Parts: sequence; C-alpha cells; structure tokens
Amino acid sequence: MCGIVGYVGRERGQVLSTLENVPPAVEFADSSADEGGRHGALDVVMEGLRRLEYRGYDSAGVAVLTPSGIESRKKAGKLTNLVQELAAEPLPRSLTGIGHTRWATHGGPTDQNAHPHLADQGRLALIHNGIIENYAELKAELLAEGLTFISDTDTEVAAGLLGVIYRGLKDGGAKGDVLTLAMQQACQRLEGAFTLLAIHEDQPGVVTAGRRNSPLVVGLGDGENFLGSDVSGFIDFTRRAVELGQDQIVTITPDDVVITDFFGNPAEGTEFHVNWDAAAAEKGGYDSFMEKEIHDQPDAVGQTLLGRSDIKGNLVLDELRIDESILRSVDKIVVLACGTSAYAGQVAKYAIEHWCRIPTEVELSHEFRYRDPIVNEKTLVVAISQSGETMDTLMAVRYAREQGAKVVAICNTNGSTIPRESDAVLYTHAGPEIAVASTKAFLAQITAAYLLGLYLAQLRGNKFRDEIATVMEDLTEIPAKIQTVLDNADKIKQLGADMSEAKSVLFLGRHVGFPVAMEGALKLKELAYIHAEGFAAGELKHGPIALIEEGQPVVVVMPSSSARNSLHAKVVSNVQEIRARGAVTIVIAEEGDTSVEAYSEHVFYVPATPTLLAPLLTTVPLQIFALALASAKGYDVDQPRNLAKSVTVE
Ligand code: F6R
Repeated sequence: MCGIVGYVGRERGQVLSTLENVPPAVEFADSSADEGGRHGALDVVMEGLRRLEYRGYDSAGVAVLTPSGIESRKKAGKLTNLVQELAAEPLPRSLTGIGHTRWATHGGPTDQNAHPHLADQGRLALIHNGIIENYAELKAELLAEGLTFISDTDTEVAAGLLGVIYRGLKDGGAKGDVLTLAMQQACQRLEGAFTLLAIHEDQPGVVTAGRRNSPLVVGLGDGENFLGSDVSGFIDFTRRAVELGQDQIVTITPDDVVITDFFGNPAEGTEFHVNWDAAAAEKGGYDSFMEKEIHDQPDAVGQTLLGRSDIKGNLVLDELRIDESILRSVDKIVVLACGTSAYAGQVAKYAIEHWCRIPTEVELSHEFRYRDPIVNEKTLVVAISQSGETMDTLMAVRYAREQGAKVVAICNTNGSTIPRESDAVLYTHAGPEIAVASTKAFLAQITAAYLLGLYLAQLRGNKFRDEIATVMEDLTEIPAKIQTVLDNADKIKQLGADMSEAKSVLFLGRHVGFPVAMEGALKLKELAYIHAEGFAAGELKHGPIALIEEGQPVVVVMPSSSARNSLHAKVVSNVQEIRARGAVTIVIAEEGDTSVEAYSEHVFYVPATPTLLAPLLTTVPLQIFALALASAKGYDVDQPRNLAKSVTVE
C-alpha cells in the first residue's frame, strides 16, 4: 500500500560533495560514473509513480529540491490529477526528488492529507508508507513544543518529528549529513510499520530513507541512484537493485549508497539483478493490465516450471536450501497466505496431502498467530505471497519461525521482505503483476506449490520417479491448454458482459473446484462490486440454497466426469437442485462432458486434464467472466475501488 519513489542524479561532470558523518559503507558506489546523471528528478519520480500506482491511488504528490528550496505538488485522486496539477503549476528541473502514491490509512484521501508533508518551516519534505502506531503520543509531544499540523495523517507527525530532530542537531552544531543522522534518531522513536523518504533543502543531491516492516529497494544507476517501494519504481532506468534488511537507514547520493541501522552502525544490503524489463510491465496492446496478465498465464506457468528436472529426471528445486533431513522429518505443513494466495494454498493442499501424505492446513495469515497455533520444528510453513510484502503474512512467518518452524516462501517479487525473512524461497516466474486483482500469480503459485509437493514426495519416497515424471509431463501440457481456454473465451466474455446487471452471482465447486469457486467469487467482488460467494457444492443444502431464487446466476465448477465420476454425479445433483429453484446455471466443464448440457443454461468447456491440475484451467474462464462483467459496468478493472496491490499494513 502506497508507492514510494526517490531519485538523486547529477549533471554530466558535476561533482557533488560526498557524505560526511556516516560510515563509509559505499559498497555500491559507482565511482566511474563521470558521465552519469542523465535524468531530471521529476521525470524519474513521475515515471516511477506511474508504475507504482497499483500500490495505492487515493492521492499522489511529489517534492523536488530547487535552487530556491523545496517545491511540492500534491493532489487527491488518481495520478492523472497530479499530472494535470503539474501542467498547471510546473516545477523547475531538479536532480533531487521524491514522490508518493497513497492508499489512505490515517485521514481521508484529500489534497491536504496527500504526501509529501513538509516540516522545518517548509525546508524538509517527507513521504511515508505504513502506519505509525505511536503517532498520537508523538503528536501530543510535538504540539506541546509548538508545532502545528494541517493534515489528519500520522505522516505529518513523522515529518514534524524529523524536522524537530534535524533542527536540534543543527542548532547543536552538527555538521555533514545531518539529514541521515536525524532520520536515524527519528526512526528510533517511531513504532509500527514505515518506510520514510526525506529530502532537505540544505542537502541537495541526498535522499534519506528509514525502513521498518514496509518495503523499500534501492536502484543503482550511473551517476544517479533510486529508491522505490519495489523495482518497478525505477525499472525504466536500471535493473541493478539492492535489497535492504529491516530497521535500516539508506541514504542515496548520485554516486553513493550508504546503509546503516537506526543507530548509525554500518549495515549491508544484497545486490540483485531484475530479470524482467520495463516492457513486461506495460499493457502490451491489451485494454487493461488485468487482461494482459490473464493472457500472460501460459507463460507464467511455463516459466515457473522451467529448469526443474535434472538429467536423470529427478525434480530439482535448487533454491530450496533447507536440510533434506529436516524436510524428511516434517510432520505437518501449514500454508499461510491471504486472499487469492490463500486460495492457491487451498488448491495445493489437495495435491500435497495426496502426494506426500503429510497433513496440510491452510490458514489465513492474519488469523494464524492470534490463535495459539501448534507449530514446532517439525512443521513446514509455506508462506504464499505474490508481493512478498503482505504484512499479515510477514508477521505470521515471523511468529512461525519463533516457534521453530522452517518457512518456505512462494513469492513472485525479488528483493521483497517475506522471502528475505524465510528459510528458503521458491520464486514464481509470473513476471510483474500490476493489476490489483491477482490472476497470473495465482496460477503460478499453484504451480510452484505443486512443485514443492512433488519434491517432498520424491524426497520422502512417497512417489516413484516415474510417477513424478508423469505429473510433470501433465504440468508441462498446462500452458498450451490455458492458451486453448484463452483462444475460446469469446463465449464467457459475452456472458460476463450480458450479466452486468446481476446483483449477485454464486459460485459452486467441489474438491479442488471449491477454492476455484471462492477465487471466482473474489474476482467478481473486487472488480464488479457485486455480491458474490463461493460455496462447496455439498454445503448448499446446509444453508446457502436458501439464497437461490428465480434468475439467480450460479457458476458451477464441474469435476471431471471421466476421472471423478462419483463427485461429478453429486455436483450434477446439486445443479439440478438449484435449477429446480430457479437458478440460471453457468457450468465450467471438461471437454467431452456433454452430460452437463441438459442441466445448464450455459456451458463453457476447458481441455481435459488430471483432476488435481484442473484449477490451472477452470480458474481462467472465471477471471475472464469477472473482467468482462466489470468492464461492461464501466469500472476500472486494474484499480478497483478501496484496494491496493500490496497490503503492507495489518
Ligand atoms: C485478490 C488479491 C488479494 C491478494 C492478497 C495477498 O485478487 O490480489 O487477495 O492475493 O492481498 O497478496 P500477496 O499475494 O501479495 O500476499
């Protein structure tokens, strides 16, 4: 939630003074950068905000350092409002700037509450992602010192605090990089989750940041450096990035990156290369990122499967650096995740239990640590997160590790916090997911969790090599089958558009189709803002059937008739029960299952595939249905109301 960008550069040949008063931890310095500094701060920051807007779109703002001091522009609403504001009130060229796109927590989405917030008589500008939990107490303290506040935000309190500390240090005779010293001291006083970025008019060519439990990565340039909530904040300019640890301060100048802890002790970051380029984060001719990402799914699954077998045909998961003896002794698996990622976990549970015979629980991260769960050294926790920054999942991971469990993260974002704090990570290679509603990450997460399940089955001897190879072959066929679903999507697209007046849509599934039904309902809720609910088909008669009335649309994810005929027969009965009560049924069935036609108003076929892999296909029409229905209502499918891509607050 909230996107953050920072930039410093220098003109070609310009020499800026280096930092003083901070340890010379300049391991990422690029001293050969005499030709660097090509970009203006505003261009970089606005481009970064454009790419990060999916993290929050309630308001946006920028501040740049100009010869006459700090200048800032900010505006409620989407980034385009800020663009208009900048056209009406242009800012001068600058080489030091910060920018913010907001998902409101404290204070509504107004111009005044938008970031940056100014302090030290307008000489300092600060932006923030997170929640400062002790802001009320700090605010009272600062009010007593005579400060005034014009917004309702916790961020303005952090800016005020930083300003007061900065002024105190200056008045006390502090020299050199006082902004960094002030940031260190301010962060020592703050509780909660925060990434703060600040600039001060006394220090052109310097952006300082402090970070606890909120995301921040550094981008390394040539005579210029960058900060971003994630790498998309600077992907147009560099693919060299540095991952930071918790409770760190990072100060960038055009040629230096200096990292310390909150007490000024040198600290380390880890450099990594971003393996996708700016084009991957563009719409590529589609009307929306969501549509593009739905069409990226054959690749997302294919890339996640790539390079997983050795020449003997054994499954290899190189990244899974947990002692094999520990993995062999695991007696329980707990999958932790939220939202769509949790549904991926629920799908995976069926496969993992079947292949590995290890009891597997799937729990919403935010419920997990508040219920005294039974977790110990024999528990393997699988934390699934597209962003790698979901605060609820991060907190659950920390809790699980404190109890002695080993944690494997399944994650789509390099340099993010959850993999960094886990014992091992299995990356999904879905590429950047920009649309707020998750699509390709979901299929890639199921794929990665299946790889993990098969790997455990291999290691523990639950499955023979040829059995694993058969599943791997079936998995390898999935990208082409997804493509078939996409190529034949016109009918479901039309149906979605035709149903734009529906007030409620119910989804039914059974076995692996149950989490698929819940995922289909979630997509519709978040995109089309209508009531949608996913039920286990067998649960219908225990209550939900009371919802069925004349004309109620119900989407049914039908189990395979060839592979699971008893389940199939039961769901057919369920369909008959609801039709008898007036439901309009839309059935997603396996190719060749013509038996369902007698009981369905609309049938949409997907290629036949083994039952456990079916969610990789049956989810796709549900995504397309939700996209088409929401688009027909005229809604912004990439940025649905009230949501943000990366939920970095609890
Ligand atoms: C729904 C959606 C969310 C996320 C959830 C977890 O379309 O995107 O439900 O799945 O917020 O996010 P990650 O996977 O980043 O931890």
